[in-house]
Amino acid sequence: MAASFTRPLFVFPFLFFSAFIFSSAVDEAQILLTFKASIEDTVNSLSTWSNTSATHHCNWTGVACTASATASLSVSSLNLRSLNLSGEISPSICQLPSLSNLNLADNLFNQPIPLHLSQCSALQTLNLSNNLIWGTIPDQISQFSSLRVLDFSRNHVEGKIPYGLGSLKSLQVLNLGSNLFSGSVPSFVFGNLSELVVLDLSENPFLVSEIPSEIGKLAKLKKLLLQRSGFYGGIPDSFLGLQGLEILDLSQNNLTGGVPEKLGLGLGNLVSFDASQNKLSGSFPTGFCQAKGLIDLSLHTNFFTGSIPDSFKECSNLEKFQVQNNGFSGNLPNGLWSLPKIKLIRAENNNFSGEIPDSISMAAELEQVQIDNNNFTSRIPQGLGMVKSLYRFSASQNNFYGDLPPNFCDSPIMSIINLSHNALSGSIPELTKCRKLVSLSLADNSFIGEIPSSLAELPVLTYLDLSDNNLTGPIPQELQNLKLALFNVSFNKLSGRVPYSLISGLPASFLQGNPDLCGPGLPNSCSEDGPKHMSAGPTKLTFVLISIAFAVSLMVVAAGFFVLYRSSKKKSHLGKWGSVFFYPLRITEQDLIMGMDEKGAICSGGAFGRVYIIRLPGGEFVAVKKLKSVGGQSLKTLKAEIKNLAKIRHKNITKLLGFFYSDDSLLLVYEFIQRGSLGDLICRSDFQLEWSIRLKIVVGAAQGLAYLHKDYSPHLLHRNIKSRNILLDMNFEPKLTDFALDRIVGESAYQSAVASEAGSSCYIAPEHGYCKKATEQMDIYSFGVVLLELITGRQGEQIEAGDSVDVVKWVRRKINMTNGASQVLDSRICSSSQQEMMGALEVALRCTSVMPEKRPTMFEVIRLLQSLDSETHLPSSFFTGGRFSTLDEHSDQSRT
Ligand SMILES: *[C@@H]1O[C@H](CO)[C@@H](O)[C@H](O)[C@H]1NC(C)=O
Ligand SMILES: *[C@@H]1O[C@H](CO)[C@@H](O)[C@H](O)[C@H]1NC(C)=O
Ligand SMILES: *[C@@H]1O[C@H](CO)[C@@H](O)[C@H](O)[C@H]1NC(C)=O
Ligand SMILES: *[C@@H]1O[C@H](CO)[C@@H](O)[C@H](O)[C@H]1NC(C)=O
Ligand SMILES: *[C@@H]1O[C@H](CO)[C@@H](O)[C@H](O)[C@H]1NC(C)=O
Ligand SMILES: *[C@@H]1O[C@H](CO)[C@@H](O)[C@H](O)[C@H]1NC(C)=O
Ligand SMILES: *[C@@H]1O[C@H](CO)[C@@H](O)[C@H](O)[C@H]1NC(C)=O
Ligand SMILES: *[C@@H]1O[C@H](CO)[C@@H](O)[C@H](O)[C@H]1NC(C)=O
Ligand SMILES: *[C@@H]1O[C@H](CO)[C@@H](O)[C@H](O)[C@H]1NC(C)=O
Repeated sequence: MAASFTRPLFVFPFLFFSAFIFSSAVDEAQILLTFKASIEDTVNSLSTWSNTSATHHCNWTGVACTASATASLSVSSLNLRSLNLSGEISPSICQLPSLSNLNLADNLFNQPIPLHLSQCSALQTLNLSNNLIWGTIPDQISQFSSLRVLDFSRNHVEGKIPYGLGSLKSLQVLNLGSNLFSGSVPSFVFGNLSELVVLDLSENPFLVSEIPSEIGKLAKLKKLLLQRSGFYGGIPDSFLGLQGLEILDLSQNNLTGGVPEKLGLGLGNLVSFDASQNKLSGSFPTGFCQAKGLIDLSLHTNFFTGSIPDSFKECSNLEKFQVQNNGFSGNLPNGLWSLPKIKLIRAENNNFSGEIPDSISMAAELEQVQIDNNNFTSRIPQGLGMVKSLYRFSASQNNFYGDLPPNFCDSPIMSIINLSHNALSGSIPELTKCRKLVSLSLADNSFIGEIPSSLAELPVLTYLDLSDNNLTGPIPQELQNLKLALFNVSFNKLSGRVPYSLISGLPASFLQGNPDLCGPGLPNSCSEDGPKHMSAGPTKLTFVLISIAFAVSLMVVAAGFFVLYRSSKKKSHLGKWGSVFFYPLRITEQDLIMGMDEKGAICSGGAFGRVYIIRLPGGEFVAVKKLKSVGGQSLKTLKAEIKNLAKIRHKNITKLLGFFYSDDSLLLVYEFIQRGSLGDLICRSDFQLEWSIRLKIVVGAAQGLAYLHKDYSPHLLHRNIKSRNILLDMNFEPKLTDFALDRIVGESAYQSAVASEAGSSCYIAPEHGYCKKATEQMDIYSFGVVLLELITGRQGEQIEAGDSVDVVKWVRRKINMTNGASQVLDSRICSSSQQEMMGALEVALRCTSVMPEKRPTMFEVIRLLQSLDSETHLPSSFFTGGRFSTLDEHSDQSRT
């Protein structure tokens, strides 16, 4: 009985309750639809937002709900970023009572600041970053009183930063970066924003303002980003109050004056300090990162017991310290050199003096030191060699003196050492441990003794500058083993015969100023054992080499037959093929296999497998690439990756039409491009393309590459740019092929295939040896090599006097030895194109810069190359200096 009574009692409120949920749901859904109605959704990102869909509105794209107090679901967050939305941001959205987060970042909204959103009473986060918002921020911005996060960055907002912002007392994040704000920033705006954790006013080039001193009162601030704006004047003393700061970026402004004396005391959380590229001067506060406790400690040693005081941990989190390109003098803070987490110290181009202390050995994570062009006066400390994470140490143009400690290059990842233009003496220590060393410059010091032959054992050493010292003895023969691009030993006291390849071979060699050196072409030609004997040696060697090569190739051929035999047998047993086409092709695997076996099939080899040009029964041609090793990937990944590559549509990229696969083979079918590869064209003796066509080819290739790098999603790297992978159609329109094969064969197979490909190493960027990850810059280097091939008319790697000559090194050597860049231009091209070619040469040299960060992006390359077409005048200073700025890059400030 009791039960039959209770039931209606329960049912009634339940009905009521669910009706309530239902009606509120309808309302909220309707509000969302009204909001959608004013939005233009060209790619239909909001297709789930529909009153006919069965999906609950809380499950619509970007919508998130939370249970409110009445236990009903209510929309609390709209995350609609990156959906290509435009149109109008309607205030109707504020009818959602619980909306606290609205993220419309990365869209195309093109309107003034949507002030009416201040009606959203619960709104805490408003993110409009990266849209096309314009106009000024009106003072009424103060109406957004509940906001905690306000992000207007990367829009076109202009005008002054309004006072009204000062009322948003709950703000924790304020990002106004990358806009067009102008005028000065009113200081007291920040006085009330005591909750602020992130303040970003960076990249507002039209600001002309002092740094508001009130910022110093924001005790909770962790990130302060003011870089690349128009701030001038001093760093406010009030900054001493920013005790919680983790990132401070003041770089690239017009700041003057000194750094406040006590800045850095108590910055226990600071991770990155950047004041570079300003006009700051005076001495850097020595207290910066100097443990207060340490000072106390020294005064009170006798009384010091117990734990280390907190202040001892000064700057213990600092990773980056950058003050380069200012006018600082005095010492760098001593404590800086031994911070436990410091990775980067840049102070070049100042007037710092003092020493590098031996305690640098404690900086166990230090990676880069750049202090060139200062007035440091000390020995190179032994402690430096104990830092095993260091890969760049650049300290040219200072007053370092004394012997180099024998361990100075012991870091196993050391790549760049520049100690040129100092006062170092003693002999050059044996370098054996730094097997990643690419560039060593010890020029213009007072080193004595011999050039250590152990240098020849550093496998990737490319730039070696020992000029202007007092070195004696011979040039070690072993140095011929290195692939040097620069070898400079001028103005020493070296003697004896110069190793053959260092005179006639690739590197830009500088030998002058050593009267006792001898060899062909030098003033002194080694009379005691004339050149006849010289040539006997190489000839004999060549003969032996050829014999060995012959024997090896016989073995390879034999092995090849064996493998072929084995695999063809195997195939006839298994022989199950599958195929996927992205274009309508009437082709069977029978056609393919037959076509590949036919005598008429033109085929050429490559690291990843052979390419066959096959005529299909219908009469059309396709190019089929038979991949060698596709072991690493599952069929599913393989298909997905190939599909991904097949979706690429660009006029300068070869179309992938489809593929065939069996258990052990993969055949990629590409469109056939009539003229074949640029590489094949260049190596023909009658190679004779006029300049305008060459320019068209490189611009097209650059566009294809830029598309892979930046426009195609996902971004791809080509990883195998070379002239043989640029195909030309009837109109000489270039098409990249062999792109992104790493995606298909897998990284390790990719690496070993590339390593096996002889004759292509000239396209590989020098940092390849020590960088684990492939980068855009590596592609850009390879592109630069192709550009050089077209400018010079030489192949990337060309055999000359029995030696393989790399075009990059050949060009640099010519330019530096002969004082005339025009000598490298292809003489088959008429001289009216010379200016354009010179412009292209400059681009090519930048692309092949040994420093990846100095290479332009592909977009920049395209712009530069396209501008050549119209450009009739180069800057008059351009070639008058005679020598190009090609080699000084490795020794940032080489003398001219
Ligand atoms: C659904 O929305 C459309 C347009 O927004 C409206 O015309 C229609 O009446 C709505 N249907 C229902 C059932 O609410
Ligand atoms: C949203 O979808 C999930 C599963 O797709 C479902 O479990 C959940 O109940 C849905 N939420 C609403 C409010 O309909
Ligand atoms: C947005 O539009 C651009 C071109 O207008 C297009 O390239 C891009 O793929 C679109 N993004 C999305 C997420 O649809
Ligand atoms: C705003 O959205 C963008 C894009 O999603 C994001 O990068 C940025 O961090 C967001 N801003 C804040 C303050 O969270
Ligand atoms: C800061 O707060 C005080 C007191 O609430 C108020 O008088 C002043 O106007 C505020 N400052 C700004 C810039 O809004
Ligand atoms: C620095 O000030 C000069 C004029 O004094 C101005 O030309 C220059 O643009 C300013 N630089 C920056 C980064 O604001
Ligand atoms: C560098 O600092 C020294 C004092 O340490 C000073 O004598 C010298 O003039 C400064 N040089 C320059 C170029 O500022
Ligand atoms: C370098 O410092 C010394 C003092 O240590 C000073 O005499 C000299 O002028 C400084 N040189 C330059 C170029 O500033
Ligand atoms: C080389 O040594 C001679 C004396 O042997 C000395 O006069 C000269 O200054 C030294 N040159 C350099 C650059 O150290």
